Amino acid sequence: MTSPLRTGKLVRAAAVRLDSPEAHAIPISPSDEARALIRCSEVVVRSLTGGYPVRIGDGARRLLPAAVAAAAPSGRCALISDERVAGLWYDRVAEPLQREGMDVVPVFFRQGEANKTRAVWARLTDDLIIAGLGRDCCVVSLGGGVVGDMAGFVAATFMRGVPFIQVPTTTLAMIDASVGGKTGVDHAVGKNLIGAFYSPCEVLADPAFLTTLDRGQRAEGYAEAVKHGVILDAEYAQWLATNADTLLDGDPEAVERAVVRSVRIKAEVVSGDLLEAGRRKILNFGHTVAHALELDSGYTLPHGHAVSVGMVAEARIGEALGITARGTAEAIRGLVAAFGLPDRHRSLGRAGRLARMMVRDKKTRSGIVHMVRLESLGRTSVGDSTTVPIPEAELISTLKRLFR
Ligand SMILES: NC(=O)c1ccc[n+]([C@@H]2O[C@H](COP(=O)([O-])OP(=O)(O)OC[C@H]3O[C@@H](n4cnc5c(N)ncnc54)[C@H](O)[C@@H]3O)[C@@H](O)[C@H]2O)c1
Ligand SMILES: [Zn+2]
Repeated sequence: MTSPLRTGKLVRAAAVRLDSPEAHAIPISPSDEARALIRCSEVVVRSLTGGYPVRIGDGARRLLPAAVAAAAPSGRCALISDERVAGLWYDRVAEPLQREGMDVVPVFFRQGEANKTRAVWARLTDDLIIAGLGRDCCVVSLGGGVVGDMAGFVAATFMRGVPFIQVPTTTLAMIDASVGGKTGVDHAVGKNLIGAFYSPCEVLADPAFLTTLDRGQRAEGYAEAVKHGVILDAEYAQWLATNADTLLDGDPEAVERAVVRSVRIKAEVVSGDLLEAGRRKILNFGHTVAHALELDSGYTLPHGHAVSVGMVAEARIGEALGITARGTAEAIRGLVAAFGLPDRHRSLGRAGRLARMMVRDKKTRSGIVHMVRLESLGRTSVGDSTTVPIPEAELISTLKRLFR
């Protein structure tokens, strides 16, 4: 029998009910489709190939069979995840696909940033080849930002590119990493040095995944949300801090509001600058310092913590150089503190070493570090002066003065 998932129009309606045992018994009606869509908020992000929807809301994961059917009519997919997420969620995510007769190839790697490497990328690609997958398959990413970046890069390069669906399972990945089409792996000398711009065809952000994260892990993602507020929307930054406890408790309505608002901000920025030629650079606020801290820690410092420390540090550097209004760093410190996120790290005291790492970052041009020009809370300068160049000697002396 032809699956309703393969028949175009009814795709979403069928998908909502796949978790129920009587999935095949219930007739599909247009109202089912409407209900499925009402449950999710939708933000459309522009991409090099057109655009893609980010569907956000409780139950969004149930739209996966429909998404796979649309991306790969063959029904063949590689479900890439890390071992921790796979242990918690693989069966619940794969089963509805298998029930639809889809061929799901599980492809797992060990969790953690230290595994976002070319070696692991090569091993995962081998797994796809060994499983006999071809151009007619799609790649599904099930996990946090590490899995999304890795799976996206596998999808971008396998057979010169196969369709890619993101199912983010951390706050950080829902709020930021699954949107914008940046994929890639790290190198021993720097973060994300090898990769590609490659957009998903759909992102399904379901807050239900966050129930298996502890409070501290949930908090990490809000570093990126605070960043969205700090660079463009002071009122949102304030809203986040005021509602920090509710968000960390995992209140689904509050979480959905935060994810929708952050994704809207990120979508608005990336849609106008798909290849990061200009304005999109403002999303790197805090990341020049953050990437150096992550590298210095041997990739053991969580990205959210590095971003939290990095934002406060870069605002302090901005204040010292006269480009950021006084008091901004202190305001950011208050925002991250509301989520229990750190505002300092011992590596900041090693000025020379840190500056050398920043110089190797890919945001560096002609050996000069470029930092996002934050003017004040919620205001970042745009146009040619999105970033400010800081010569190495000045960077070292400023770091020494501020973080002794
Ligand atoms: N591509 C982009 O635009 C972009 C943007 C921001 C960050 N990033 C990248 O994202 C990465 C950080 O993402 P992250 O913080 O999600 O890291 P992560 O993927 O390593 O996840 C953190 C930990 O949480 C576990 N985990 C994930 N989901 C879980 C769940 N539902 N329940 C229990 N445990 C779960 C993972 O196994 C892992 O151990 C970095 O590599 C960063 O560079 C990319
Ligand atoms: Zn980040």
